[in-house]
Amino acid sequence: MSETGELAELAKRRGFFFPSNDAYGGTAGFYTYGPEGATLKRNIEDVWRDIFVRELDNMELEAPTIMPEAVFEASGHLDGFDDMIIECGECGATHRADHLVEDAVEAIEDAEALGTERVAELLTEHGIVCPSCGAELADEPVEEFNLMFATNIGPGSGSPGYLRPETAQGIFVEFPRLKEYARNQLPFGVAQVGRAYRNEISPRRALVRVREFTQAELEHFIDPEHDEPPIEWVEDVELPLYSARAQQADDGDIEYYTVGEAVDAGVIESEWVAYYLGRSMAFYDRIGIDMDRFRYRQHLSGERAHYAADCWDAETELGGNWIEVTGFAYRSDYDLSKHGEYSDESFTIFRQYDEPRTIERAVVDPDMSYLGPEFGGDAAEIAEALESLAGRDRSAFDGEEVTVEVGDTSYTVPVEKTGFTVEEQTEAGEHITPHVVEPSFGVDRLVYSVLIHTHDADTVDGETRSFLELPAELAPTTVAVVPLMAKDGLDDRAREIAETLRTEGFEVAYDDTGNIGRRYRRQDEVGTPYCVTIDYETAEDDTVTVRERDSTDQTRVEIEALPDVLDRLVGGETLAEL
Ligand code: GAP
Repeated sequence: MSETGELAELAKRRGFFFPSNDAYGGTAGFYTYGPEGATLKRNIEDVWRDIFVRELDNMELEAPTIMPEAVFEASGHLDGFDDMIIECGECGATHRADHLVEDAVEAIEDAEALGTERVAELLTEHGIVCPSCGAELADEPVEEFNLMFATNIGPGSGSPGYLRPETAQGIFVEFPRLKEYARNQLPFGVAQVGRAYRNEISPRRALVRVREFTQAELEHFIDPEHDEPPIEWVEDVELPLYSARAQQADDGDIEYYTVGEAVDAGVIESEWVAYYLGRSMAFYDRIGIDMDRFRYRQHLSGERAHYAADCWDAETELGGNWIEVTGFAYRSDYDLSKHGEYSDESFTIFRQYDEPRTIERAVVDPDMSYLGPEFGGDAAEIAEALESLAGRDRSAFDGEEVTVEVGDTSYTVPVEKTGFTVEEQTEAGEHITPHVVEPSFGVDRLVYSVLIHTHDADTVDGETRSFLELPAELAPTTVAVVPLMAKDGLDDRAREIAETLRTEGFEVAYDDTGNIGRRYRRQDEVGTPYCVTIDYETAEDDTVTVRERDSTDQTRVEIEALPDVLDRLVGGETLAEL
């Protein structure tokens, strides 16, 4: 299915998604999910929750989408969350400079890693023109543009804030409280499904690059020295890996490794990242991603985000291009250390030793009645410097005198006046900053990929049929109840059956407009896996016809048995197997 033609048309006509604010001329980078799309998206989020929150026994929270500036000073987004922008001198349109280079120069896949200066040179060298008006972009400056949407919190301009560019920060800043809920025990995971905002320079490809989107993120806090992932759960799961090495080789391609093999061979550096790549395979498969059009791609070294140590992306193939749908990052202690440094809270956790440890600690107790008269106003700072030196280098106190630096001045103090001693102390544990492993899913790109990957067409009764092979648990409607005719009591009976199925927990649509063939096509197009048809036989023997979307097989079923039959079908059986 072509993205710009068929998909865009289907998405708009059948209410999956469409550009927002059309009545006011539209706003690039914003999409509204219609009734089918909103349900499909929610169902994908629910499968995500099932796998990454319920099955893994993680917590879920919901944080505000606006956060104060201090958060992003600490996180590095204020300084480092930039894309390369170029403005056309002729028409004033703005573009992602690195994307223009990548589109024009086949050999360059990651222009961002080259830096603004080189990208500007490449624009000139290759005579790249403005996609909007065709004017040459040579000599136009390429600049860094911060992607965060700024706002003010409260009236006036006193308190700057930003719409969060990733949901993760809403989790990190609450770590001091979250660790209490986890009873101060590592490892633990905190998930969030919510909106993120990026003022993208060139929004494109519908839901692929938008300015407001949904992320489903999991932040797994671990003790890097002691915690290991339960790799045995996933060690035999096969992964399609496109490693950095393969990307740099002339004939490099996807290679298949089990999780265990990838870890043993060092293809994936972090066991935690490997564990999540394995765990996530079941998720993509369950939501209908075509696993023959799916790969994990390792980041090249220049490509990693400012916080990431080891990084892989899950990518889906759409129309011959690969797009990132999930980022898997080993964020180390970057985020918690930064928030610890910039705020007044503790972002550490107490790691208990197996046995209490006795340690020697060098301490000083300077004689202020000597330091005061001797050094005047500098005495307090000299005492502090002595304390710090004792902690760092106790051998400095081996002689008769010890020298410390305060500012640019050296001061020499008799060791006997420092009160230097080495004490034995018993400690039960130490404070450590946890590391973070993060799978970060872009829900909108998943919705988009699922629609494209599940779309199919065949010929039924001599006509082309377009349908979505959505998994039953994902389909916005599970069963459509359709009376053969909207008369002779067939419609009343159909409404009754629809109501009963709803109370049994099924997502049910009732449809009595148009001929029966057209109604089937309508349901096929939005991925409804089953139709139940009420006809004249129903009144005689209390049976209905169940029709299966993918095979178009039909079977008569007693009304009483309908909930059970549908349950079995949704559970994975086919009509032929019943
Ligand atoms: N917390 C990590 C993080 O935000 P990211 O790779 O920048 O990492 C994670 O984003 C995911 O969010 C991406 O894999 C992608 O699916 C989605 N995403 C990012 N920017 C997006 C945009 N402008 N439009 C739609 N989805 C986007």
